[in-house]
Amino acid sequence: MGFIKMLSMSNLPIIDFHSNEYLTKPLETLASLSKQLKVGKSKRGVEILDYNLCRDSILDRRLGTGHPKLMKVLGLEEGPALNYKKNSISFHDRGETRRRLRIPITKLMGPQGSERFRHDIRHVVKSTFSELPKNREIDMIKLLCDKIPSRVYCYWINAPQEDADFVSITSHIVQQVHTRDPKTSKEVSKGFENLLKYIDERIKICRQALGDDLLSDLIRATDNGDLSEDELRNWVVKMAEANTDNSSHQIAIAIIELASRPKIWKLLGQNSNLVPQALREVMRYHPRSLSTSRETLEDIELAGFFIPKGEAVFPNIGAAHWNSNYFPKPEVFDINRPEKPIHLNFGGGIFSCIGRFAVTIEIEEVIAYMTKMFPNFKLIKSSFSHSPMFTSVEQLLGCLVE
Ligand code: HEM
Repeated sequence: MGFIKMLSMSNLPIIDFHSNEYLTKPLETLASLSKQLKVGKSKRGVEILDYNLCRDSILDRRLGTGHPKLMKVLGLEEGPALNYKKNSISFHDRGETRRRLRIPITKLMGPQGSERFRHDIRHVVKSTFSELPKNREIDMIKLLCDKIPSRVYCYWINAPQEDADFVSITSHIVQQVHTRDPKTSKEVSKGFENLLKYIDERIKICRQALGDDLLSDLIRATDNGDLSEDELRNWVVKMAEANTDNSSHQIAIAIIELASRPKIWKLLGQNSNLVPQALREVMRYHPRSLSTSRETLEDIELAGFFIPKGEAVFPNIGAAHWNSNYFPKPEVFDINRPEKPIHLNFGGGIFSCIGRFAVTIEIEEVIAYMTKMFPNFKLIKSSFSHSPMFTSVEQLLGCLVE
C-alpha cells in the first residue's frame, strides 16, 4: 500500500511545550516551528502546524473525537461525572447520533439564534459595568470577565443572577480536564457532580413555567421528541462546562490586546463598526484555543508521515494562526487583515464550538461598551500563561478612568 513510502512517527520532529522558549514566547516559537514543519510530535501526540493541514484535519472524517482518550489520561473514575461525559456530545464520533444531537442546539445557537441574545447580553454588560468601582485599580477577571458569560448563561437557563458565581466557578473547575493532569480528576469529578445536580434542579423548575429562554426552547425540543431527557440534561451541562472558562479568558485577552494599543482602543471607541474586525484579529493573534484534539479512526498519512489508528492528534491552532505562509507578518497586530483565511479559534465542522456566535457577541458588546465609555481605560498589570491547549490570563488589573 501507499503507506510503505512514508516515514514513521518516530521520525517526527519533537516539540517541547515545557521548553523555556515556548513558555516565554509561545506564539513566536510556534511561528518559527510552523515555518519549518507541517507536523511534529509532542508528549501528548501528533501536532499539526500548517494552517491548511490544520483546517483540513479539523474537518477530516478519518479523525474523531479526542475526548475518550483525554478521560483515560485524566483517570476519571466510574461515577456520575464519567457517565455524563460518556453520554455527552464530546464522546460521540462523526455519524448519525452526533448529527442528530447537534441539530436542535445549532438551530438555537446559530448566527440568527444567537442574535436574539444580544439584547440580554447588552443588558448584562451595562449592568455589570455599572457595579464596578471607577478611578481605582480593580481585578477585571473577577469583577468583569467571569461575570459576563456566567450571567448570560443564567439568562439562557432562566436562573437567578445570583447563581452566576456558582456557574463560573464550576466551569473553571471542570475545564481542568484539558490540563491532562490526573491530579485534577477528583476535583473535576466533584465539579461535574455539583453541576449535574444543579442543572437537574433548574430543568425541573423551568418545566413548571416555560418561557422564551434557551432552556425552555430546549425543553420544547425534547417534548417534540428531538432529544431525550438525558440528552437535554447533557446539553445544558455541556454549555455550562464549555462556557465561562473559555469565554472569560478570551474576553480578558481581548481587553489586554486592545487596551495595550491605545490608538486602536480610541479608534474603536469612536467607531464601534470596527469592533468585529478588531475582535477577529484578537482571536487570530492571541486565541484562547491554542489547539483542539482529535484521534485517528484509521491509519492515515499526514504530510508524508504514517500515523496509526488510535493516535492522539492536535491541530495546533496557535501555530496555524502564526504561520507566515498564510498570515504575512503574523507578529503584527493588524485589524485590517483580510477576513480569509478565517481563524480557527472555535474549531470547525461537525465538532465546531456551539457557543461561537453567542460568545463573539458577548465580547463585541464588552469591547464596544468599554472603548466608548472608558476611552482612557488604564491597563495596570496583566499576565498570560500558555499550555499546549490554551492561552490563559492569569492577571488583569485595570482602572476604569472616568
Ligand atoms: C471564546 C470562548 C470559546 C472558545 C475559544 C471555544 C472554543 C471551542 C473549541 C476549540 C471547540 C472544539 C471544536 C473542534 O474541535 O472542532 C469547542 C467546542 C464546544 N464549545 Fe466552545 N468555545 C468558547 C465558548 C463556548 C461557549 C460560550 C459555549 C456555550 C454554549 C461553548 C460550547 C461548546 C460546545 C458545546 C462544544 C462541543 C461541540 C461538539 O463537540 O459538538 N463554547 N469550543
